[in-house]
Amino acid sequence: MTVTRRPLIAGNWKMNGLSGDGLALAEELARRIEDSADPDFDLLICPPFTLIQRVGAALAESTIALGGQDCHAAESGAHTGDISAAMLADAGCSHVIVGHSERRADHAETDAWVRAKAGAARAAGLVAVICIGETEAQRDGGETTTVVARQLAASLPDGATAENTVIAYEPVWAIGTGRTPSVTEVEAVHALIRGDLAQRLGDDEAARLRVLYGGSVKPGNARELMSLTDVDGALVGGASLHADDFWSIAQSSA
Ligand code: PGA
Repeated sequence: MTVTRRPLIAGNWKMNGLSGDGLALAEELARRIEDSADPDFDLLICPPFTLIQRVGAALAESTIALGGQDCHAAESGAHTGDISAAMLADAGCSHVIVGHSERRADHAETDAWVRAKAGAARAAGLVAVICIGETEAQRDGGETTTVVARQLAASLPDGATAENTVIAYEPVWAIGTGRTPSVTEVEAVHALIRGDLAQRLGDDEAARLRVLYGGSVKPGNARELMSLTDVDGALVGGASLHADDFWSIAQSSA
């Protein structure tokens, strides 16, 4: 059975965007998707929490999905500064990124914690975009496949399906550096992820679940990366802050 996975291009704005530039960017992307008849990709924007409602309003008439960049694993309670998955859903989000390497590094998030967040996302009706990827030292030490397999096994919650989960493979050393693995390396890691998903979820579910590549995706390298068999889109940081670049990456995926 051949399954066609519709590419997902997700923009992770990280800690960028004030109301002026953030709203202008969202409005521009909404205009472009509206003007393009039946695009062959899905778009997702993950602005900072402060802009979620206003970007959501700017996207209200568009097919572009809205996501958070993180959520807490608990439903509510005494967690100063945190946001729950239910709050994101309430603010109009359909997706949330969990386990981004910047969260894992800056906030000491473990695989178990990421798994709990992904479970909370599912419970709130959100799609969890679960990020995994090796550091440069792990890559240099030949540990890439072990690390990725271990993170995937430990971060994927029970009940994960192609509808409620997206995996993003993001080598930590490729994020924001302008460096990317070779296409052969990306292909090998994505095939490994697909194989592991098949063991965990069964062949059919694994064949439908989208696995994104992230880390220095730019207009210049997107077409090559997006053409790989098991790459079903991109998680884009820096380039998602520029409408032309983000749009060009999206078009490369179709
Ligand atoms: P980058 O970030 O595209 O700026 O490398 C990707 C990410 O962190 O999701």
